[in-house]
Amino acid sequence: MISIRNVIQRFERPDGGATLALQDISLEIPRGEFLLLAGTNGSGKSTLLNVLAGTFPPTSGQVQIDGVDVTRQGPELRASKLARVFQNPYLSTAGTLTVAENMRLAELRGGKRTLRLGLSRSAKARHAEALAACGMGLENFLDRPTNTLSGGQRQALAVVMATIVTPKVLLLDEHTAALDPEAAEKVMQLTARLVADHGITTVMVTHSLDHLPRFGTRAVLLHLGRVQEEWSGAAKTALTSAELQRRFTSLYGG
Ligand SMILES: Nc1ncnc2c1ncn2[C@@H]1O[C@H](COP(=O)(O)OP(=O)(O)OP(=O)(O)O)[C@@H](O)[C@H]1O
Ligand SMILES: [Mg+2]
Repeated sequence: MISIRNVIQRFERPDGGATLALQDISLEIPRGEFLLLAGTNGSGKSTLLNVLAGTFPPTSGQVQIDGVDVTRQGPELRASKLARVFQNPYLSTAGTLTVAENMRLAELRGGKRTLRLGLSRSAKARHAEALAACGMGLENFLDRPTNTLSGGQRQALAVVMATIVTPKVLLLDEHTAALDPEAAEKVMQLTARLVADHGITTVMVTHSLDHLPRFGTRAVLLHLGRVQEEWSGAAKTALTSAELQRRFTSLYGG
């Protein structure tokens, strides 16, 4: 589904030097894979998501999504293929709109343009059903402005919105990092369920080492813009936070 070939991302620095944020990254991500991206600060995780989202074109290399070369496509051209949830709950939902209006926008963004724009009773019933499945009571808040929700409720809404029209690719950039442990766990469980139910090809950046054995189908560790190590299957399930912590310490030269 996603093919990343020899991608290099170079950023010029004000001091005249350059940062190689991605140094010859190649990754094949088959349809339905739930890939976790971990790594040290500055290792290139967000840059890689930005290259997938089309925020900026890579310096060199190629990105294909669903067999189409999207390397030089901007974010608007790719929008119909991609959904994205950011770390900041305020970036993925519109605070002044109600929960129902946000849900409606998410449906329309997914291209269901034959549906009427207004919030009909059937649309609301549909939204309530989708939100009830989160188990966070969001279905009771349909007419509330979204900025009256907690960060956790807002991220749960963002995940439902991102998947309401099944995207070809879902990009998650530390989307539970700003939440308290209980809300983070709920949003992760919701994410894992929706990704599995719809078989969505997903790339998730995380700093929570306990996510690696518990979620996703493959985990990749980035360091200094390169793939340092990767795990799947039994090797991934067997990972422990202590072992991963040791790897991080050694990457930092400890
Ligand atoms: N737009 C940019 N302009 C210049 N340099 C950038 C830009 N974006 C990222 N970088 C640099 O590229 C490197 C990789 O950054 P990136 O944000 O991808 O790291 P990350 O793995 O997401 O880190 P973190 O865990 O801190 O979020 C860093 O050295 C960063 O300073
Ligand atoms: Mg980042």
